[in-house]
Amino acid sequence: MQKVFKVGLIGCGHIAETYFRGHKYFNNFRIIKCADIEHSAAKKCASVYKISAVSVKDILKDKEIEIILNLTIPKAHFEVSKKALLNNKHVYTEKPMAIDVEDGKELVKIAKRKKLYIGNAPDTFLGGGNQKSKELIEKNLIGKIILGNIIFAYPGVQSYHPNPEPWFAKKEGGPVIDMGPYYLTALVNLLGPAKQVWGSLMWNKKKRVIGIGPRKGKSIKVLCPTTYLGTIFFKNKTIIRFTLSFDVIAHHRNHIELYGDKGSILVPDPNMFGGSVFTCKKLGGYWKEHKTNEMPLGKINIRQKSLRANEAPINANYRGVGLAEMAYCIQNKKKHRCNGELSLHVLDIIKSIMHAAKIGKRINLKTSCQIPKLFSNKEVNKILK
Ligand SMILES: NC(=O)c1ccc[n+]([C@@H]2O[C@H](COP(=O)([O-])OP(=O)(O)OC[C@H]3O[C@@H](n4cnc5c(N)ncnc54)[C@H](O)[C@@H]3O)[C@@H](O)[C@H]2O)c1
Repeated sequence: MQKVFKVGLIGCGHIAETYFRGHKYFNNFRIIKCADIEHSAAKKCASVYKISAVSVKDILKDKEIEIILNLTIPKAHFEVSKKALLNNKHVYTEKPMAIDVEDGKELVKIAKRKKLYIGNAPDTFLGGGNQKSKELIEKNLIGKIILGNIIFAYPGVQSYHPNPEPWFAKKEGGPVIDMGPYYLTALVNLLGPAKQVWGSLMWNKKKRVIGIGPRKGKSIKVLCPTTYLGTIFFKNKTIIRFTLSFDVIAHHRNHIELYGDKGSILVPDPNMFGGSVFTCKKLGGYWKEHKTNEMPLGKINIRQKSLRANEAPINANYRGVGLAEMAYCIQNKKKHRCNGELSLHVLDIIKSIMHAAKIGKRINLKTSCQIPKLFSNKEVNKILK
């Protein structure tokens, strides 16, 4: 019998809606209370989803709640997750797990000491697109992967977000910390841990103009670099070139391309769950499509354009599966896939890229993790309604 874990939400902002939507898809968690540093945000959320709004202090002490879902802003992740663990709650946090590697390490250490689970987004790598790619790679379809390219590049959030400052903040701003978690987690899921990075950066404009909302036309300061280019060296010897940028109007490259000694693979957008995978085994040859729209976490479930500019109007979005998979693993005493070691390693890659680009030197990573296991349809179906 599947247990339904009682979840307490801290941070009732934009992304919260997506996790409530998870109630429709997953059978083992229910968000029963919510809290926010701005109590009015918690009250609004509670009235929409017919749950109770309480203070942050009370939700952490609440005996009924077993898992804290931390959807606060990146710079608050560490503090909120730490409090959750110290109050003997399991915790699942939006990306990134923290904005400092040392803080991430501390969270993993506390969770281990207290025998609690710590889980983190992104969970998009559990979707059809990345899992189909993993299956094909593990079947040796393209042979041993030796090289690859990844790109996330767009003009930035200022045109469509009324409060874009966090994306341009000194410490937690920029494209690597914002979008890196999706791409890097997807790569680690396919290639295993990384060992070294280097890069270069560009700080294109010192100001940007807000394009929407009550502050439309106001100029804001850009306090961080907005483009990073560089290389990641993986332990399995694969070398990946990356472009992560808020300075590109448009491009026509594939999100992730991996080149093996028997062929090449195009991995769909790691910020999404679905999308077809393409493989080609000959120069100038046919690109074979491997559809994911019949996979349980690849099926289209969104048919209306959301407010997120970089999200396709029709797509598969099963955010919350990482939380459901973690709940399943708590109940069955297994290791969960969106685990602390994986997100700590991804955070290490992120911060090392940013630092390497700043000082102009290669940096060796200090963390590692196990490559996550393929998420079989059989396992997915256990947590789906
Ligand atoms: N919005 C998206 O499309 C999206 C997509 C994927 C992931 N995320 C991630 O989700 C997280 C939240 O993003 P968002 O867009 O919902 O942000 P948001 O700013 O809309 O909401 C964050 C909420 O957290 C609250 N908060 C901040 N600090 C707090 C603290 N110390 N204690 C309690 N509450 C606190 C804020 O008052 C706010 O209501 C971020 O880590 C972001 O990277 C967002």
